[in-house]
Amino acid sequence: MDIQEAYNQWAAQYDSNQNRTRDLEAVALREALVSVRFDSCLEIGCGTGKNTVWLASKAQQVTAVDFSEEMLAKAKEKVSSERVRFVQADITGGWTFVEQQYDLVTFSLVLEHIEQLDHVFVEAANALKPGGHVYLGELHPFKQYAGTKARFETEAGRQELICYTHHISDFLQSARKHGLTLVELKEYFDDGDRSQLPRILTFLLRKEV
Ligand SMILES: C[S@@+](CC[C@H](N)C(=O)[O-])C[C@H]1O[C@@H](n2cnc3c(N)ncnc32)[C@H](O)[C@@H]1O
Repeated sequence: MDIQEAYNQWAAQYDSNQNRTRDLEAVALREALVSVRFDSCLEIGCGTGKNTVWLASKAQQVTAVDFSEEMLAKAKEKVSSERVRFVQADITGGWTFVEQQYDLVTFSLVLEHIEQLDHVFVEAANALKPGGHVYLGELHPFKQYAGTKARFETEAGRQELICYTHHISDFLQSARKHGLTLVELKEYFDDGDRSQLPRILTFLLRKEV
């Protein structure tokens, strides 16, 4: 099953399933951005809007993009704010939905589904104002090495999504190539237990002025 179809199927249960990755990334995003000021935000892979409501509480304008119409439908049920513009688009193509330069571009649990990091870093850098920030929150590659994958249950059995493993150096090298420098890297652990593999990896990056 392709990724778009998988998310269309997952949408009905995405918010109600037990999902530590989803929940811990929500914590990580809020911590990473609590002291970052932004009036405009481009949220890539908004899904069911887990982070959209919070981003719209901080920004005057949020453009929330996803290619799954069913995930977007769930997000629209949650978010009634006029500050949010939802767009259905595949981010592996040209980012024709970018109509302005943003203070912040976010990716939450999306890049594991994207094979070519360079393309999204080029587009994200172009979409940003100089001095603007990129936030990335991903399933930690250490978890991927150990076999963890995005998946959900259906009547027909377990569906595993197509995922790509990006190493920490892949993110950093691709970001730097496109003028994005590292501000902060953080790792989040289940129940704060640092003796286990970290679950979430976050980067806060800044576009050079
Ligand atoms: C694991 S969900 C994360 C949703 C939300 N950001 C969150 O943290 O709960 C990944 C989302 O990325 C979207 N996505 C994956 N590949 C995409 C692509 N090529 N273009 C646009 N959206 C994509 C999926 O439809 C899905 O909604």
